Parts: sequence; structure tokens; C-alpha cells
Amino acid sequence: MFGNGEPWDRNRKLIRKALELPSFRPVLEDVIRHEMDMAFQNLETYDCTKPIKLGEAFLVPSINIIAGALRGAPLPPVSEERRALKSVAQDMIDCDFRSLLTKFSFKCPVAAKVLSKLLFTDLVDVRNTLNTLRDEIRKWVEEIRLLSAADDGALAAVKSSIIYSLLTEFGFTEVSEEKEAELVMTLNDMFIAGVTTVQSAFEFILMYLSKYPDEQKRAQEEVERVAGSGDLTWAMQEKMPFVWACILEGLRLAVVVPTFIPHVLTQDMKVDEYTLHKGTIGAFSLCSVHRDEKYFTEPELFDPMRHLEDGKIKQIHSYRPYGFGRRSCVGWDMANIELFLMTTSVLRSFDFWSADNIPPQNMEMKSCFAQHLKNFTCFVIRRSHQ
Ligand code: HEM
Repeated sequence: MFGNGEPWDRNRKLIRKALELPSFRPVLEDVIRHEMDMAFQNLETYDCTKPIKLGEAFLVPSINIIAGALRGAPLPPVSEERRALKSVAQDMIDCDFRSLLTKFSFKCPVAAKVLSKLLFTDLVDVRNTLNTLRDEIRKWVEEIRLLSAADDGALAAVKSSIIYSLLTEFGFTEVSEEKEAELVMTLNDMFIAGVTTVQSAFEFILMYLSKYPDEQKRAQEEVERVAGSGDLTWAMQEKMPFVWACILEGLRLAVVVPTFIPHVLTQDMKVDEYTLHKGTIGAFSLCSVHRDEKYFTEPELFDPMRHLEDGKIKQIHSYRPYGFGRRSCVGWDMANIELFLMTTSVLRSFDFWSADNIPPQNMEMKSCFAQHLKNFTCFVIRRSHQ
């Protein structure tokens, strides 16, 4: 899906179709709630007198959510698959896809390994990571193919999964090797694009809420008022405008995909007095738009209210966290559902406050596929009514 031409167009449409399937949404929500419950059980074991890297606690849930969405059900709680995906997620976040050494390791893995030792740098074995991921994906595709031949409850459960949806187009049986590789690659791209981005965006949102306690409190009150102690659902998003505005504002200030994915001009074009020629590679600077005073007054300020008008969310034309046009984020609505359910679950269950006094805009970053906060830590405590 990161390619171009006819296969990109075809697969992009198929993924959109799968994500828009009405029966997919409840499955996705179930998977998210399940993974958040598991993450919270792990959080219980932390010593709350010490600061923790709260964002990191949601790296594994982010990969397991994509896996669950692909399969149509959460992974079994204790399984080899969870162990394998945990290590894939860690590699994804440890690996700098932009570094020359990483690029070199694709061509000459052995030489790159030697070089990294000489340079005292950690080098993620990207090929091995991608192979592990592809093996898992192939296994799930095979499982769903087998189930498709059955005619029972198990088949009904997977019919809403992304894999089933794609198999109906790629074919359940007698698929050519080339087609099979394309299917696996399309599913693989969802992991590459959807794991570290969601985890990073979520960490930015938590970081801002941890440094803006009044906004955190107001958001918590809204969650309690609307959801009580019942299941959190995406349908509640409209009834929680302030929480949603906090998420939108976190996404505005987050620098998850700062220059989008590079685009190539398919024809000559004019931008003001400049003529750009066909074939030119262009990158978009999201930061300069999202922090432009012309569109956002006091742009460095975390101000959820700028997204609200008469208590309702307002559309801001220059607000584009997911890009725009034909190559915009294919998983934007899935990411929104994830961010909403993840944020509301944390707000309802925990109070959290930053462990440092560093202004948000001065927090250090690191880049892998997405850009991340490097050292965000906070104190976390279970809320007393829980
Ligand atoms: C908060 C989380 C996310 C953010 C901020 C984000 C942002 C973006 C941005 C800015 C682009 C590039 C747009 C461009 O170059 O014009 C992009 C592309 C893409 N995203 Fe996301 N994304 C997120 C989550 C996801 C998820 C969950 C998925 C899939 C499950 C996904 C799949 C993709 C894919 C496949 C592309 C390439 C689309 C294409 O080239 O046609 N993203 N994303």
C-alpha cells in the first residue's frame, strides 16, 4: 500500500471497504477494550511512587489491536503470537527507518551488523522483524481460509475481520503466489503504518493531559458523566466534546508523521511564484501548518477549546493530522476510534501527572517509522472510585 499505481489503488480501496464494513466497528471496539483491560492489569503491578513511561505501556496493546482487527477477535491471552508481536512492536519502535545504517542493513544485513558493532550502535534486524510479522499474518490468513470452509459459529465470528474481507476479493482458494504475496504485504503495511503512529499519538495526548491537570480533570468528569462505569463506546464520542477536543488538540501538537510520506508530482504545477516540475519529490511540513499563528492563536498552547464552538466540535480547514487527498491516511477512522477508547479508558481509571517541568514543546523526540517522545515519564495512580 506504500507503493503506487494500480496495486496501490486496488488495495487502498479494499482496505477502506473492510474498515467501513458496519459489522467491523463493534469487533474493533471489543478488541480495543480487551487490550486496554490487559494493559491495565499490567499497570497494576507498577510501583506508583516511581515515575513510569506510561506511553510505552500501550505499545503492545497497539500492535495487538491491529492483529485483533485483522483476525476479527483478540489474540489468545497467553500465546506464542502475543510473544512474537511484542518483540516486533519493540523492534518497530527501536528502529530508525530513516537512518542510513538501517537502509544499508536491507541490502547487506551481515555487513550492517558488523558496522553497527564498530560504531557501538544498536541495529534492529529489520528483515527478521518483517519476516516474523509476515509469518504471523500468513498463519492468520490460513486459519481464516480453513474456517471459511466450515459453516458454523466460528466462521460467523471472523466474517467481520479485515482478513476475511480481503479474502473475499483476493480469493479463498487457488490464489497465485503473486496475489498471495500482495495480500500479505497489504496486511503487513497496516502494521507498519498503524502501530507506532497510534502509540505515539496516544503518548502525546497523555503527555499534554499530564501537564495540563485542569483539562485532565474536566475530561475525566465528562467521561464519568457520559459513560458511568459501563462499557466505553465510540458512539459516546459525540457526547464527549471536551474529551474529543483534547484528543484533536493533542493530535495537532503531536509530531507523529511530521512531513507525511514523500509525494512525487505526476504533473508540473505552480505554487505561488514557483514552478514545480513533474517528478519532483515533495514533503509536507505539518508542524508549520499546525503551529502557524495565522490559523491557531498561541499555537504552542494546549487549548482544546479552540476546537469547540457552542459546545460542538468545529471543523478547522488547516487541521490535517492524517494528511489530505488521494494519499491521506487510509486508517484515519480506525486511529480515531483507538485514540478515543484508549484515552477515555485511561482518564476513567487513572490520575496521572508529569514527572518533570519541561514545557511540552521542549520535550525530546526520537524517530522510528513515526516520531516519538523520547523520555516522557509520569506518575500514575488508580482513581479512588475504581
Ligand atoms: C494517530 C495515528 C495515525 C496518524 C497520525 C497517521 C498519519 C498518517 C499520515 C500523515 C499519512 C501520510 C499522508 C500523506 O502522505 O499525504 C498516513 C498514511 C498512511 N496511513 Fe496513517 N496514521 C495513523 C494511523 C494509521 C492506522 C491505524 C493505519 C492502518 C490501520 C494507517 C495506515 C496508513 C497507510 C496504509 C498510509 C499510506 C496511505 C497511502 O499511501 O495511500 N495509519 N498516515
